Amino acid sequence: MNVAIAPSILSADFARLGEQVSETERAGADRIHIDVMDGHFVPNLSMGPAIVKSLRAVTRLPLEVHLMVNEPTKFFDSFIEAGADTLIVHLEVVPDPFPIVSQLRERGKRVGLAINPATSVERLAPFLGIIDLALCMTVVPGFAGQVFLADSLPRIRRLRELIDRENAKCELEVDGGIDLRTGQEAVEAGANVLVAATSLFGDPDGAEAAVRQMRSQFSPPT
Ligand code: DX5
Ligand code: ZN
Repeated sequence: MNVAIAPSILSADFARLGEQVSETERAGADRIHIDVMDGHFVPNLSMGPAIVKSLRAVTRLPLEVHLMVNEPTKFFDSFIEAGADTLIVHLEVVPDPFPIVSQLRERGKRVGLAINPATSVERLAPFLGIIDLALCMTVVPGFAGQVFLADSLPRIRRLRELIDRENAKCELEVDGGIDLRTGQEAVEAGANVLVAATSLFGDPDGAEAAVRQMRSQFSPPT
């Protein structure tokens, strides 16, 4: 199985962020996942474009920005200027994604649409043909370190069917409670991008060893 590994820096040690990102890059990570929270869409605050700008200077890996915010379009310019490669917005706050997707694509960016565990995967179907990535949340977003919701597996399976029907090139990303075991289950259900914060940056052996171990379990994307 070809799987992309996307360490989420939400659980990194922010005092050593550049170093930790470089460790994951050396160990075979494919992209860096940056969780942006506004205290409204989710009950927590995290980081903004300044982090993206600083990371752009220290890694060659693509930077994907997961916007857990009520008004994502307000922030596109600043994240793009900071160096984001992919912008992921939540379908729950973007009733009509078509104009947003074309706007981002015209600017040469990759576009992802995310859904919370309570949102039906069927709602993504009309947009799968025009997006690069579908993100199936496997926890209720807002905090790192939560337990993978087991009822995500049928959702991932269904999303895989929809993607294969509509646009096989669209990536199926999972985010929340992903470790070697739940990652394996998610991949078997059809995911091909794994986001992980706690299981990588919280590993007692360090993020480099944790990414290496995950990398040895899944072949890199071709
Ligand atoms: C959840 C975020 C995730 C989260 C993953 O609100 O979107 O990216 O940081 O954290 P873990 O891997 O610890 O569940
Ligand atoms: Zn995320």
